[in-house]
Amino acid sequence: MPEKKEKFYLTTPIYYTNGLPHIGHTYATVVADVIRRYKRMRGYDVVMTTGTDEHGVNVERAAKKAGVPESEFVAKMAEAWRALWDELGIPGDEFIRTTDITHVRTVQWLFKLCRENGYVYKGHYTGQYCIYDNAFVNDAKPGDNCPDCGRPLETVTEENYFFKLSSFQKPLLDFYKKNPDFIQPDTRRNEIISFVEGGLKDLSITRTTIRWGIPVPGEEPHVFYVWFDALTAYLSAVGGPEYEKRGYWPADLHLVGKDIIRFHTVYWPAFLMAAMLPVPKQVWAHGWFLMDAAKMSKSKGNVVLPRPIVNMLGMDALRYFLLRDVVFGQDGNFSYDALVTRYNSDLANGLGNLASRTLTMIEKYFGGIVPAADAAAEIQEGFWGDVKGLAQALAQSDQAVGSSVIWRYEKCNFSNALEAIWTLVALVDANLSSWKPWALAEYPGKRGILAAVLYNAAEALRFIAVLAHPVLPDSTAVLWKQLGQTGRLDDVRIDQLNWGQLKAGTTISRDKSLFPRVDKTEAIERIEAMANEELNPPKAAPAPAPSAPAAGASAAVAVAPTVSDKIGIEDFAKVEMRVGQIKTAERIVGADKLLKLTVDIGTEIRQICAGIAQYYEPESLIGRKVAVVVNLAPRKLRGVESNGMIVAASVGPEGRPVLTAFLEEVEVGARLK
Ligand code: MSP
Repeated sequence: MPEKKEKFYLTTPIYYTNGLPHIGHTYATVVADVIRRYKRMRGYDVVMTTGTDEHGVNVERAAKKAGVPESEFVAKMAEAWRALWDELGIPGDEFIRTTDITHVRTVQWLFKLCRENGYVYKGHYTGQYCIYDNAFVNDAKPGDNCPDCGRPLETVTEENYFFKLSSFQKPLLDFYKKNPDFIQPDTRRNEIISFVEGGLKDLSITRTTIRWGIPVPGEEPHVFYVWFDALTAYLSAVGGPEYEKRGYWPADLHLVGKDIIRFHTVYWPAFLMAAMLPVPKQVWAHGWFLMDAAKMSKSKGNVVLPRPIVNMLGMDALRYFLLRDVVFGQDGNFSYDALVTRYNSDLANGLGNLASRTLTMIEKYFGGIVPAADAAAEIQEGFWGDVKGLAQALAQSDQAVGSSVIWRYEKCNFSNALEAIWTLVALVDANLSSWKPWALAEYPGKRGILAAVLYNAAEALRFIAVLAHPVLPDSTAVLWKQLGQTGRLDDVRIDQLNWGQLKAGTTISRDKSLFPRVDKTEAIERIEAMANEELNPPKAAPAPAPSAPAAGASAAVAVAPTVSDKIGIEDFAKVEMRVGQIKTAERIVGADKLLKLTVDIGTEIRQICAGIAQYYEPESLIGRKVAVVVNLAPRKLRGVESNGMIVAASVGPEGRPVLTAFLEEVEVGARLK
């Protein structure tokens, strides 16, 4: 492995801006983040790019419908995507937008190189075009529907620039042969090879019927067709024409969904070969997360959103489920039932419980200090060699060892990697149960064995924290601290784990449970209620702007209007605001941002939820007078009834809520006018 930091560049697809992220998009970005973390723990200098694909007819139409210029529309959407990735802890190191000037220049430069090398010519094209997928459908007849999305195709004839894809049949086949790992998994590789063997037609790479695109210099109204534009974003993100200066190109890995593999493994290397630029090293196609056996789409009403799941169970739970439940590369069915079942069995009862029992016993029997493993006792009892042996095998970085978790990460075999780590969780758990430290503790003569049992359990937990860190970054970091480890877990080398590195004498702590157990029915109800609310924001409440930082905050706190249209006094009079006094305040389990308040509004006591939990301690609010909108229709927030809205200023880019206050004495129930 690398002595000096070797560079590793990986990408997610850049996402269309005509919708917001669902669990399918989250999956791709989570996988990229897991690989990024894993590679960093192997000592690489990693850059991960994500971004937004902002041109094309769909955006023109959506912006028109929204009554705003395209640039404004995409800016808001891009911000919403970026903000969600930040919120979920999976931001790109680079976030490239196809409207960025660096990208525009890169596309124009790539075109120039292809043209200078003789791979571009002008022609006419008539074809059946799917405006939803931004692609001509070869072999389709007028009146056909799109084979991918099922929606009607449109006949389009126009003058185009063509790319001589047909010249690349042989170079591509040779390339696949020389680089057998270029397309993964193997099934996809075979699919692509037979597609290319079937012959390649030239490809139209510009449009004159679309306005919202990158102009072909000196050839207006030609703009670049979406795939020539979109794919180039990977190169723009790391320097574009000056890519050599940054040194990340060619990409080591493009992660893509199975629907877009052809663009990445046929068009993209061909464009780069034509421009005589280096070709990426690998493209990995993952499957889809399906809902009721169908691909998620807003129009089908079957999208699963990440935020409600994260609010209820935490981001690590979602990450674990996405990677554990489905073999990478295959399709998987998403269900809340499976998600919560896995959470309870593997995380709450599995790792969470093991950590808690081990730490509790170290606290109880050794005053919170990791005891020295009593070597004599270990030898005498033939002690726990199986745990040590398994832990070492899992942490083996020698690629030949099949059981190694490291090797499985290397092969994008995430489900298997986690399964292997959990065999260690189960083994340690079983050993604790059979050695019964609580019984050993009864006999002073068994102190050595007790120490050895608990030392080994704690050391196994340290291995687990390191090995599972790429997938469970937050909870393993907590466990790391609880085990008394200093320094950042991200900086630990996953391939330099040695049994016995946990020092006796280390002080442990047990401040919180890693994964509190949840009631399945209640958890699903809550998640569904939150999802419902996010997908269908109540009309009476201000709709969250696409760039709103978090549903919780925007749902219950007044958000500064983004549109400055004037309203008449009669409109304002419709809003009944009164002085209320907070009587009780409490946190809501599973909703980090919300407080449940009871508020006296003069005529009655109301229950109101407010998205202020991250900024106000419940106790500090008791007795406080605040402005309350009292005539909002009641609605449920995180499954809890809310009957009114507390008014607050929304401050700074993160929308920090600041409650109103009255400088003079005011009567509870007084109306604000
Ligand atoms: N903009 C293009 C990609 C250009 S890359 C140069 C695009 N965007 S997309 O937003 O429609 O899709 C982005 C990725 O999300 C694709 O890889 C797609 O496979 C993935 N997913 C969308 N829905 C999905 C699921 N339900 N499950 C898993 N991934 C899916 O295509």
